[in-house]
Amino acid sequence: MKYKISPSMMCANFLDLKNQILSFEKANIDMLHIDIMDGAFVPNITLGVDFCNQLKSATKIPLDFHLMVERPEEKINYFDFKKNDSVSIHYESTYHVQRVLQKLKSMEVNVGLALCPATPINVLENVMDVLDFVLIMTVNPGYAGQDLILSCVEKIQNTRNYLDSHGYKNVEIEVDGCVRLNNIKEMQNKGANIFVGGSVLFNNGDILQNVSELRKKLETKE
Ligand code: DX5
Ligand code: ZN
Repeated sequence: MKYKISPSMMCANFLDLKNQILSFEKANIDMLHIDIMDGAFVPNITLGVDFCNQLKSATKIPLDFHLMVERPEEKINYFDFKKNDSVSIHYESTYHVQRVLQKLKSMEVNVGLALCPATPINVLENVMDVLDFVLIMTVNPGYAGQDLILSCVEKIQNTRNYLDSHGYKNVEIEVDGCVRLNNIKEMQNKGANIFVGGSVLFNNGDILQNVSELRKKLETKE
């Protein structure tokens, strides 16, 4: 499966956003990861509706919305999702998982279900038919720059096996949290093909350089 890198915009330098977006356009980045946090589902508050609308008007790069909000069914209409955007909700954030996923499907976005580290993968059983991707959290949601939860790396492989054994080979796996140069290849080998880059892209040096380092890892046969 084609790999995609999704820079986590909550880690961006907001005082230099225009240049950073230009860098991603130059690098032909596939999508921009937008962490929406409401301070209730996770103990943090990040990017808001106005930020997303301005970002949408500033670039054609599709947005990869990661909704870390309680009761997303009450909030998805706040956003101006476009057809080639991706939108993931958390399994743990609503009583009505299937209903929200169905609603997103009707909005013709790429539909994802995000799983916290402790959530078992068999929660996918009755919704795989409406999913375009599964988002595996490899850290606890809420903050960038956290350490990797090692057991979640194996969860990538287990999810890939689970999807494939149920006939959902086309459902992609996005991995989000502590993606680094020293673990991205293992994550890819275990079945992930969408990689959220937070600290690894923004925290040191040149964004374009950091993107090409990750791509080199993903393109090597190891
Ligand atoms: C955490 C967010 C991630 C985070 C990634 O809740 O969903 O997207 O910003 O940042 P790193 O890659 O530094 O863990
Ligand atoms: Zn995220």
